[in-house]
Amino acid sequence: MSFKPFENKIFLSSPTMHGEEMEFIQDAFKKNWIAPLGENVDNFEKEAAACTGVSHAAALVSGTAGLHLAFRLAGVTPGSTVICQDMTFSATVNPAMYEGAKPVFIDSEEDSWNMDPKLVEKALDKYPDAKAVVPANLYGTPAHLSEIRDICRERKVTLVEDAAESLGASYKGEHCGSFGALGVLSFNGNKIITTSGGGMLLSEDEEKIKKARFMSTQAREPYPWYEHKELGFNYRMSNIVAGIGRGQLIHLKEHVAEKKRIYRHYGEQFKALGLPLSMNPYPADSKPNFWLSSILVDSDVCDKADASKDISAEYPGMLSGICPSAIIMKIMKTLSSYNVETRPIWKPMHLQPYYCSYDFIANEDHCVDEDIFRRGLCLPSDIKMTEAEQDTVIDMIASCF
Ligand SMILES: Cc1ncc(COP(=O)(O)O)c(C=O)c1O
Repeated sequence: MSFKPFENKIFLSSPTMHGEEMEFIQDAFKKNWIAPLGENVDNFEKEAAACTGVSHAAALVSGTAGLHLAFRLAGVTPGSTVICQDMTFSATVNPAMYEGAKPVFIDSEEDSWNMDPKLVEKALDKYPDAKAVVPANLYGTPAHLSEIRDICRERKVTLVEDAAESLGASYKGEHCGSFGALGVLSFNGNKIITTSGGGMLLSEDEEKIKKARFMSTQAREPYPWYEHKELGFNYRMSNIVAGIGRGQLIHLKEHVAEKKRIYRHYGEQFKALGLPLSMNPYPADSKPNFWLSSILVDSDVCDKADASKDISAEYPGMLSGICPSAIIMKIMKTLSSYNVETRPIWKPMHLQPYYCSYDFIANEDHCVDEDIFRRGLCLPSDIKMTEAEQDTVIDMIASCF
């Protein structure tokens, strides 16, 4: 079967604006609040806190900045151990490195593609003085968050929930972003709602959020002159950016419903076509936000594809020879030739040249993260994609088998 390339690119997840964003921006212009403070910032914090069921929030320039401040608030200092999800974007762990921490990576469980709570316990047996545990709710699917929270409480270690990808998702009726002593959201351009770039630090502890605001505005002491007793950062969100966020937040539920429709449609159609693959799973007690629909191609199909082609030989110098299967590369290349964006699963941190020297606590029988990285692929999940366009994307994928 041959296809005509799409005239307009089908994206993984691109911004969807609605109009209210511009009204909030115009209001800021009218009042000349073009600064990292103002009504939009204050209200965006209140609205983001309300929608995640958390009492306090600090609006920041990025999710990465939120994680950085979270690690400082958790007492991470040079040499501290931070127990981190292995299969995630590097931004989950990079801010711990800014503070000179030593990460320990945790393999995933098959039913959520997130850090395995029993391996978190094992890691805490080995590193009882760890300062933080960081699950990452991959692609909008909650980790087993209450189980991880229980472990953190029992072991007296700070839970920092990286909810960058999971705004609007929940686990056992509680919102993602609200499980940790500190939670972090991202409003990067590709997220479920976006401010073009931005983040939010969430906490029940008002003092921690006040401290985060203080640190994010260069740690200026309340003196008439510039007085600094500690290190500060320029991490505060602008009032213009916060205006975009306020307009977007109004439409969060709609975005989640659309993403869910896309996920379901992929699942149903792949099943109807009898393709040898499954969708990214989610725990029974969870409501993901379905940010990115992903597939996992059956092992035997990947094994067969890889028996005739050594993909790793095409990328000399690559660490460990573990990479997406030849069938995954074929789907990516095919879809790209038709102007459709796909993306490999986040390459696990323990396979990254920068991070591979740090400890990795894995499942004993097989490494779940390496398996998912090899057999998985993120599919276009843009809510502006029509059902007809999605059907064509599905046919394009089917043509690869
Ligand atoms: C899991 C995860 N953590 C952290 C971040 C960092 O967020 P930001 O890009 O807003 O700094 C992202 C997204 O970019 C992410 O996907």
